[in-house]
Amino acid sequence: MGTTNINRRDWIRKSVLTAGGAMALPYIGLAETPRMPLLLDTEGNAVYSPFFKEYLPKNPAVLPELSAKLNANENPYGPSPMAVEAFKNSAAGGNRYAWKELFQLVDKIATYEGVDAKNIMMGPGSSDLLEKTAMVFFMNGGGNVVSADPAYMSLIRVAESVGATWKPVPLKDDWSHDLKAMEEAIDDDTKLVYICNPNNPTGTMTDAKELLDFCSRVSEKVPVFVDEAYLWFLEEGEKQSMVNLVKEGKDVIIARTYSKIHGMAGLRVGYIVALEETLNRLQNITRGGMGITLPSVYAAMAAMDDAAFIEKSRTLNAECREYVYKSLDQMGIEYVPSYTSFLIFPIEMQGNDFLEKMTELKVGVRAFQFMGKNWCRVSMGTMDEMKMFTAALSKVLV
Ligand SMILES: Cc1ncc(COP(=O)(O)O)c(C=O)c1O
Repeated sequence: MGTTNINRRDWIRKSVLTAGGAMALPYIGLAETPRMPLLLDTEGNAVYSPFFKEYLPKNPAVLPELSAKLNANENPYGPSPMAVEAFKNSAAGGNRYAWKELFQLVDKIATYEGVDAKNIMMGPGSSDLLEKTAMVFFMNGGGNVVSADPAYMSLIRVAESVGATWKPVPLKDDWSHDLKAMEEAIDDDTKLVYICNPNNPTGTMTDAKELLDFCSRVSEKVPVFVDEAYLWFLEEGEKQSMVNLVKEGKDVIIARTYSKIHGMAGLRVGYIVALEETLNRLQNITRGGMGITLPSVYAAMAAMDDAAFIEKSRTLNAECREYVYKSLDQMGIEYVPSYTSFLIFPIEMQGNDFLEKMTELKVGVRAFQFMGKNWCRVSMGTMDEMKMFTAALSKVLV
């Protein structure tokens, strides 16, 4: 596979980044860091590791007209009506910074998580906090970050851009994190371990007990960042959270977002829970909540109270997943059972061609290569969108 190391300008032109989450285009304006080397193969696709690449649309700067936008793991039902109402009612207060209101939100989150307010740092989406963590932990150059391969690339890409080395550890055949190999990969230069559970772009889970044991032990040597963006899609997902480790004084950082089950990707609210010392390290250099708008603060508080909406999102998401499983079964396509709002299945087709054909049929999905195969990653939309997706897929693949 031929590769080229491209400069910032090329990256801006070509990139759609981060394996799994939002398409990168909205972030491009922010991305004026001195360098963000991205390996591209000869077709202009992003090569993250020798085993992991993302097929990119030919011209990512041109946003296609889509009837089913299933490429960014957005909640098709949200934001919750209560959040929208709260946002609208507070919009006129948008001439003020959110000070007091932000503290109210932090207090509400602290109560929900069972931690102290000083253990919470807010951000306009969790991406902001993943990236700030990467910048602060690695800004003095050197060091490495250990994570699964494939993983969600946001934190890793920023760490690499400020001089860190990524030590990717392949997922196991059962799609769980290879915790033993990850622990062995940690060396004297490891400054952070990143774990996304459930993982993106695979949608798969690592057993909570094993992960708890790993985080508890490893965080004695090195901080562990656990990205729980999709945990709320599980029934009683909170029980599988690593947040209790923070209460036990462990150097673990838990990231959460309102973008997924709360349906607020466009309103931009997220947070991390961590030890006060760890947050001080981040907050000595960067500010957390400053990027969140006042109406979004109110929307987040309302979204937390809208249990009915959260339940609806979880139930409809699961129904759509079941529908896609059944349709793939009927088409004779295997898939990887998912714990999230997206799922992957292998495609016997060149990734760029697949993306192009699906886009022509107005269905937006993502395409990757890992574990030696090409994969489609499809987000769960409404049932109507999923029907458009399966109809398009049967034309393109079958
Ligand atoms: C695993 C994971 N973490 C974090 C994020 C960031 O989301 P946001 O910045 O909207 O909170 C995403 C978005 O897709 C994600 O998939």
